[in-house]
Amino acid sequence: VHCYPILALYLPAHQVITLPAGESAKTLDTCQTIWHEMTRMGMDRRGVVLNLGGGVIGDMGGFAAATFKRGIDFVQVPTTLLAQVDASVGGKLGIDFMGYKNHIGVFREPVAVAMYPGFLKTLPPRELRSGFAEVIKHYLIADAPGWVGLQAFTSFESLDFEAVVAHSVEIKSRIVAADPYESGLRKALNFGHTLGHAIESYYLETPEPLLHGEAIAIGMVAEAWLAVRLGLLEQAEAEAIRAFVARVYDPVTIPESAFFNLYFRTLQDKKNHGSHVRYALIGGVGTPVLDQEADRDLVFEALRFYAGTMS
Ligand SMILES: NC(=O)c1ccc[n+]([C@@H]2O[C@H](COP(=O)([O-])OP(=O)(O)OC[C@H]3O[C@@H](n4cnc5c(N)ncnc54)[C@H](O)[C@@H]3O)[C@@H](O)[C@H]2O)c1
Ligand SMILES: [Zn+2]
Repeated sequence: VHCYPILALYLPAHQVITLPAGESAKTLDTCQTIWHEMTRMGMDRRGVVLNLGGGVIGDMGGFAAATFKRGIDFVQVPTTLLAQVDASVGGKLGIDFMGYKNHIGVFREPVAVAMYPGFLKTLPPRELRSGFAEVIKHYLIADAPGWVGLQAFTSFESLDFEAVVAHSVEIKSRIVAADPYESGLRKALNFGHTLGHAIESYYLETPEPLLHGEAIAIGMVAEAWLAVRLGLLEQAEAEAIRAFVARVYDPVTIPESAFFNLYFRTLQDKKNHGSHVRYALIGGVGTPVLDQEADRDLVFEALRFYAGTMS
């Protein structure tokens, strides 16, 4: 609604498929609608799909294109901060299935990604904050001097989104190019995500769900504490991460009674081998340290560190 009129002026002859918004539409059913429409339009292998929207549209539209007639070209035009700094980079496409996120999918690169910071003007502030967590993550795993500079952040109104998006895309692209299929370095992008996903899925079952990035921000603070206790990170650095997150995000009260539930959810994480939970942490800001293990007591401590009741 907001973005198409801006883009339409620049497009050659095309047809539009409009889809319902939100994660709940990221399904095989919606893919069927897309394939049905593409077929009805008489699209052949020379056709190009342009995915205009957030990460849901990018992942699902890309997947629909990558499987239509064994794969046709597609272009990503991400319109949320999360999609610009994260989802549109790295070639992961897919849909949710039987309640599992991104359960069915493929790796395939778009022929182009077009970024326009102006799209972000209509994005609700909460969605902006959510995407910003991945921006913070990119600084923490790959750019120590940049992290120091980021401390000057005051508000989204005064943030240079063009620069911020370019910075994140550069870092994620570099990591993905070095390890496209996540056998090593790409795991660094999971910093904050093991505990973050547990928190996200826990709150999804409450009346006040968190957006992905809101949960990841908490996950990064808690996992910073794991890094401290594993001797990887200075305590002052973890405290600086916690302080920065507290400036951007509203505090979330995680009751102690939820700690075991959260710990249990980390055991379900799809990145685990066997029964061990593997964390992607940082060994100092800017340096990823992969495949770290933490026991239950340490996870509880980390959640208390986020709450401010530990150190
Ligand atoms: N492929 C990957 O590597 C990767 C990485 C991260 C996340 N993802 C996926 O991305 C999805 C989340 O993406 P998201 O946060 O963009 O959510 P989303 O696509 O659901 O978009 C969020 C909301 O913002 C609306 N919206 C989009 N652009 C807008 C604009 N410019 N102005 C106003 N409203 C706008 C959407 O209609 C939607 O309601 C998840 O499904 C996640 O799995 C994929
Ligand atoms: Zn994420």
